[in-house]
Amino acid sequence: MDIARTEAFVVEALGRWCKPSRAEHSRSVAAMAAGLCERFGLDSELGRLAGLAHDIAKDRPLSEQWEEARAAAAMPGLGAVALAVSRIEAEPAFADKIIHGPAAAAILGREFGRREFGRHAIGRREFDPFEADILEAVAYHSSAAIEMRPLAKIVFIADKIEPRRPYLTDADRAAAAALGLDDLLIHALWLSISWLRRNGRAIAQSTLDLYNALTVRDAAK
Ligand SMILES: [Fe+2]
Ligand SMILES: [Fe+2]
Repeated sequence: MDIARTEAFVVEALGRWCKPSRAEHSRSVAAMAAGLCERFGLDSELGRLAGLAHDIAKDRPLSEQWEEARAAAAMPGLGAVALAVSRIEAEPAFADKIIHGPAAAAILGREFGRREFGRHAIGRREFDPFEADILEAVAYHSSAAIEMRPLAKIVFIADKIEPRRPYLTDADRAAAAALGLDDLLIHALWLSISWLRRNGRAIAQSTLDLYNALTVRDAAK
């Protein structure tokens, strides 16, 4: 994977497709994800790129988001996108709010393949392990998933605790600086669930499933 070229594509997409506040949020998530990667022993460049890219589809027309996500879900090598899309389709009440995660992964997957396969990139069969990690992190960031690996956990967390989030308290910031990865994930999930509840919004089943799985594991310690 050529990180610098992919990052240039994402930066250009942020400027062309996203409102300024979205682009600013994305840069903030990227910085937070890079820092968390360093702290938890992952390549910070991967966190930065995934954070920058996670919301690139969010301001695209909804029909386009669904089209991108469904097309990618049918392609080999994009299992995380397929899983995320099938779960999101099962929750029609708020699916439109979270399809932007798989849609962004679809756009990024096409970009990863473009350099290698030109116009036929979307039919590419395999992504390298770094690309696969980034695609998974971007695809799952809007719904969460029990299958999330460390980079996906970090991007999910960074999205919820980046400094621009208005709901963060000093206690949240202290927790963010001190907790281990899974405890921090539980904290981020709880922040997300609480915010959705306060705003009268539904919560994705996959978010609740992950919260419950981590909490049960905690209780068994
Ligand atoms: Fe998002
Ligand atoms: Fe976001």
